[in-house]
Amino acid sequence: MLGFGAGPLGAGRLTDAEADALVGTALDRGVTVFDTAPSYGASEERLGRALSHGARRSTVVLATKGGYGVPGTADWTGDVIRLGIDAALGRLQTDVVDVFLLHSCDVRTLERDDIHHELERARRAGKIRVAGYSGENDGLAWAVASGRFGVVECSINPFDRGSLLTAVADARAAGIGVLAKRTLANAAWQFENAPGASDVRTYWQRAKALAFDPAPLSWPALAVRFAAFAEGVSSALVGTANVAHLAAAIDAASDGPLEDDALTRLRDAWNMHATADWRGVI
Ligand SMILES: NC(=O)c1ccc[n+]([C@@H]2O[C@H](COP(=O)([O-])OP(=O)(O)OC[C@H]3O[C@@H](n4cnc5c(N)ncnc54)[C@H](OP(=O)(O)O)[C@@H]3O)[C@@H](O)[C@H]2O)c1
Repeated sequence: MLGFGAGPLGAGRLTDAEADALVGTALDRGVTVFDTAPSYGASEERLGRALSHGARRSTVVLATKGGYGVPGTADWTGDVIRLGIDAALGRLQTDVVDVFLLHSCDVRTLERDDIHHELERARRAGKIRVAGYSGENDGLAWAVASGRFGVVECSINPFDRGSLLTAVADARAAGIGVLAKRTLANAAWQFENAPGASDVRTYWQRAKALAFDPAPLSWPALAVRFAAFAEGVSSALVGTANVAHLAAAIDAASDGPLEDDALTRLRDAWNMHATADWRGVI
């Protein structure tokens, strides 16, 4: 199942009307999972406004994140969780957030009881339905094993698949929902030269090393079908500010899982070229 990754929705180059059109297209095409965060510019506000029309909000699963970003309150404390959830409810124009994810903190932070206490309090108060963790590697493994989270979010794409056989398999066995992020590998394949952003550059370098040819599919179609149907994935988030790209991703997902041949070639390329430092990209 595809979800809408609302990271790009907050970009300054997008108008509010374009943001509305993106969310409208996602809803019209049957997308029911939306993922945002306070660090994505105007994303939460735009998503909240777009979902406030009619009965839209009640038809979707709305995920946001926190642990930081409340003025005057220290990051990664119980207070910032409590106040951050209240602030998110306001920006999202809703009474309840379906999934509230700790946004990529480390294991030491994950171990803090004050944070879990506030998550549980918010859950009991009906302000959040499920607490989750978005992150990679040690933090992801800790979050899955802890039994404290109902959802985890992690990177899953042809250049970042190390979690599939570890944390995602464990999450599946434990009945924990998994949101796949960076589904399109940040479209790293499209750059001729190494991109400046370090996360995209990491994927670009891995793409060069794998030298994988997606034909007869396009890279977006291959990546969408890989993540959306990976075992254990509940929903794969596609980030885009472009209505045509969103529609193409939805079309690709409707073609179902990748053929066995493509899956085998992808796995073989990874097994041949991936090195120990090809860890999950936060
Ligand atoms: N730490 C975290 O919690 C974390 C980190 C990363 C992501 N996330 C979540 O996961 C979501 C998805 O990840 P993401 O947005 O980082 O990356 P992504 O979905 O892997 O890739 C997004 C990029 O792909 C491009 N793209 C999409 N469709 C395309 C197409 N058909 N052809 C060419 N380019 C295309 C988009 O550009 P256009 O706008 O031009 O389409 C955008 O630049 C985020 O929006 C966010 O919700 C969470």
